[in-house]
Amino acid sequence: MTHDTSPTLIPVPAEWARRAKIDAETYTLKYRQSVDDPHAFWAEELKRIDWIKAPTEISDVSWSKDDLHIRWFADGVLNACYNCVDRHLPARQNDVAIIWEGDDPSMDRKVTYGQLHDEVRRFANVLKDMGVKKGDRVTIYLPMIVEAAYAMLACARIGAVHSVVFGGFSPDSIAGRIEDCRSEWVITANEGLRGGKTIALKHNVDKALEKVSGVKGVLVVRHTRASVAMNVGRDQWYDNVAARVDLECPCEPMQAEDPLFILYTSGSTGKPKGVLHTTGGYLVWASMTHEYVFDYRPGEIYWCTADVGWVTGHTYIVYGPLANGATTLMFEGIPTYPGPDRFWQIIDKHKVEIFYTAPTAIRALERLGDAHVKKHSRKSLRLLGTVGEPINPAAWTWYWDVVGDRRCPVVDTWWQTETGGALITPLPGATDLKPGSASTPMFGIQPDLVDADGKFLKGAASGNLVLKTSWPGQMRTVYGDHQRFIDTYFSTYPGLYFTGDGARRDADGYWWITGRVDDVINVSGHRLGTAEVESALVAHPKVAEAAVVGFPHDIKGQGIYCYVTVNQDVEPDEMLEAELRQWVRDDIGPIASPDAIQFAPALPKTRSGKIMRRILRKIAEGELNNLGDTTTLADPGVVEDLLANRKSA
Ligand code: WT7
Repeated sequence: MTHDTSPTLIPVPAEWARRAKIDAETYTLKYRQSVDDPHAFWAEELKRIDWIKAPTEISDVSWSKDDLHIRWFADGVLNACYNCVDRHLPARQNDVAIIWEGDDPSMDRKVTYGQLHDEVRRFANVLKDMGVKKGDRVTIYLPMIVEAAYAMLACARIGAVHSVVFGGFSPDSIAGRIEDCRSEWVITANEGLRGGKTIALKHNVDKALEKVSGVKGVLVVRHTRASVAMNVGRDQWYDNVAARVDLECPCEPMQAEDPLFILYTSGSTGKPKGVLHTTGGYLVWASMTHEYVFDYRPGEIYWCTADVGWVTGHTYIVYGPLANGATTLMFEGIPTYPGPDRFWQIIDKHKVEIFYTAPTAIRALERLGDAHVKKHSRKSLRLLGTVGEPINPAAWTWYWDVVGDRRCPVVDTWWQTETGGALITPLPGATDLKPGSASTPMFGIQPDLVDADGKFLKGAASGNLVLKTSWPGQMRTVYGDHQRFIDTYFSTYPGLYFTGDGARRDADGYWWITGRVDDVINVSGHRLGTAEVESALVAHPKVAEAAVVGFPHDIKGQGIYCYVTVNQDVEPDEMLEAELRQWVRDDIGPIASPDAIQFAPALPKTRSGKIMRRILRKIAEGELNNLGDTTTLADPGVVEDLLANRKSA
């Protein structure tokens, strides 16, 4: 995917060097200060937030396994909703906060900061009316409608902790997430809409709640005309309650380290973990990175195409932009509905200036041909961004050439759910670009490379990507399982945060992220643990054993390849294959749909019974002549069969 030498270097366009908030010289100075004197750097940056009580403490961090704690701005008091809404009033009362564009192109609306203030206060009072209290966990399972932002901000306003679950997840996945954080409240909609199809959100919640107890109230936003079953005493329509509550709703003063949200993400083992972000540090990081990475100024139209169900939606649709008083566009639909030019049509319709999307979308749209793009002027665009997975230089170049007409810098932002916001990324007025490279670290970020033994690699090298020091947006713990937090991120290389990614640092000090080095796969920018798919498969009554690996996929980045051994009396056939595919979709959600299922009489194992995933990965990747050492296999014959029956996906 990446080149060893980088022939292309795209210098900062002159007009960007002139107008940008951060030019090359400022970047160097500020970066140095952020690393050499973090106290001074953050004492200045924290002023971007309105504090009820300004912090005097900057950070108190230990990454030692025996005493792991991460605290930023700990004696500060603030409210995140106040910072995203109230503080922009009255000056920006009539400025547009959210542009909503529906799945149906004839549906859109604009919400000003003044209206947002009303809607969020109303929503917060509805939550209070239901019985939601400070510290309660509220599960949000909503489509991309403005109410999703209202719901998140309303939680923040009253000090409740939201846990947004992506609308593409199954009832089982919702149930698991509700159970893990013992959430008593769920906010959903009757239905979602995507690409002209409806999604039975309320029905999914009902099914989830058959499996988990303890939920006291379900609030249902009326989005489509569909009527849905309402469980009396538990379920209420949002609009019914909203009609009877007040507008007045004060912001709850929160300690900087009070939780703001939980967001579940997949790891290399076990169930998804509840990544916990707290209030002060996260908001400083979200606001700072949104401003600098996108060189954002109030009044500009900014569009991040992510879903609020992922961290990108949290930080770069809701919290970052709104903290900065931005106009943020929320799109309910998909890039190819009703036509393959939907993105470009929306850009022209709303005069989008900053556009942030994922490599998988870029590759899919590139494949549909340039004509769909060129049909629209895109002249409002001035900056392009990408996130979620490595972007191959060819896709980068198409984005730059065709979408941006070689005018718009492309910022390839590397980060993770765990990091709260972008950590390695170009700044458009400061960084000369290399197609395919996330380039240089954000302020306060000290990446490095280690080999398998934890030895630091010097100069141009490839290895495992670690971070040496904390930053305000770092996750604080795995909700309810601090030990898992320590084990996952701080035990592989003591004293360092291990990202799970592999990377290369080139001779200019630019970073090239090469992808996960653990058992996490990234399918169309959606993160999945191979262990989750395996556990779904082995739960099927006909399956004895399963091993799941990722393989390179032209559009999705990675695809899901499953090796399945069936029970003795079972004859595997195409029907079973289809059944298993549906089974996994039902268990996790459509994003986990296997691309290939290969039935195997046995899986390659060591003599101690450990599955040799390396071999399975090679076969799935099609690297058949390069399987590596197979002499430690208990039964080398197993590999012959795997090779003979390989599926091309
Ligand atoms: C993993 C994190 C960041 C928000 C969306 C995904 C991969 C993310 C890039 C990029 C190469 C990237 C990494 C990372 N990733 N951005 N610009 N270049 N890889 O968040 O679901 O927590 O996934 O996505 O592998 O570890 P996530």
